[in-house]
Amino acid sequence: MKHARADFPKDFLFGVATSAYQIEGHAQGGAGRTHWDTFAASPGNVVRGENGDVACDHLNRFEQDFDLVREAGFDCYRFSTSWARVLPDGRGQVNQAGLDYYDRLADALLERGIRPCVTLYHWELPSALADQGGWCNRDIADWFADYTQVIMGRIGDRMFSAAPINEPWCVSWLSHFEGHHAPGLRDIRAAARAMHHVLLAHGRAIQAMRSLGMGNLGAVFNLEWSEPADDSAEARLAADRYDAIYNRFFLGGVFNKEYPQTALEGLEPHLPKGWQNDFETIGTRVDWCGLNYYTRKLIAPADAAWPSLQEVPGPLPKTQMGWEIDPSALTRFLVRTRKDYTGTLPIYITENGMASEERVQDDDRIDYLDKHLAAVLDVLAQGVPVNGYFVWSLLDNYEWAFGYEKRFGLVDVDFETLVRTPKASFMALKSALSEGQSVS
Ligand code: NOJ
Repeated sequence: MKHARADFPKDFLFGVATSAYQIEGHAQGGAGRTHWDTFAASPGNVVRGENGDVACDHLNRFEQDFDLVREAGFDCYRFSTSWARVLPDGRGQVNQAGLDYYDRLADALLERGIRPCVTLYHWELPSALADQGGWCNRDIADWFADYTQVIMGRIGDRMFSAAPINEPWCVSWLSHFEGHHAPGLRDIRAAARAMHHVLLAHGRAIQAMRSLGMGNLGAVFNLEWSEPADDSAEARLAADRYDAIYNRFFLGGVFNKEYPQTALEGLEPHLPKGWQNDFETIGTRVDWCGLNYYTRKLIAPADAAWPSLQEVPGPLPKTQMGWEIDPSALTRFLVRTRKDYTGTLPIYITENGMASEERVQDDDRIDYLDKHLAAVLDVLAQGVPVNGYFVWSLLDNYEWAFGYEKRFGLVDVDFETLVRTPKASFMALKSALSEGQSVS
């Protein structure tokens, strides 16, 4: 790699990220059914109908996987806890085996000198709660706060950092308006409610964790830079609407206690009554902002109902996902996020990486990571307080609606044998992270 630890500030943290449903093997260990299991079991939603029943069998192999995290020299490991593993019905009866598992996992990280960075929700909602309207039901904020108390009451004392919800846009818009993720709705009213409730639940969980005495609490957003597909005023407006729905709605809610007018134009009639009164909770103080960044989108107007836009293919080189590679958009995002939302608050890149067909000699991934690390160095030089960078992902894993085909891992997984093989990118990072001063 061109970049190494020594190029970054002394206390800059490097980490690697995963999520529960994508690696654990959800069918084992007493976890309850989730809305993702239902979604995957409904034909047409997921490539080959694949699900997370076995995934990487991390549940039984986490010690071996954490040896790899240590071997690569990462300072931090970002993972998620599965709501349905802790509370199979989302509320009430606790699955003791689930709590014990996360307890052992926390200790296994600390024994290896790795900082545990937890996310409480990475997309698998217990079915019993989905049956009651899931993210469309305002009560989810209470259910989520209760779950937070249960799981953090057990492992919160050992977490380096914690964030309630991974990528609120995916939880709400992608899942309730575009229908690409569970529960697979295409309904603007459901989407607007989910967008608001996911932020409300975020705020309630932050409050619950503060009441447990936890610190270093943040929020994790996924950002996609939208570029107008051409110079027309219509394309500029469409790109602005995309940005308002995708990025500014969530950042604005949490950091500025307001939603952008451009998003409200289409969403306001569908937001739950009294939504304006929730900003004190939504905007509960956090200690850091996490940004997941992968790509940009070219946006054109569409002859369709609001938001009347469509994505069009762009000219840049693409990953296995078909996503354009544009590190310069990461630079622009970081600068804008600091200016409009976060000020002096630390920012972490909580996910960045690419899917590639290259199973072992993944030079394309090394290049991708290098270019995005250069973007981070660029904004550090401009004074943006980026404190860390996490690669997505440690292992090839279950890429949601794309099943096991799209490979994001630094470590190859053979899904027949579950054998792990570190890729060239793993070895390159290992040598990059061992160079220069390591953090204490
Ligand atoms: C973001 C999500 O957090 C993660 O679950 C997913 O696998 C990656 N992006 C890649 O699409």
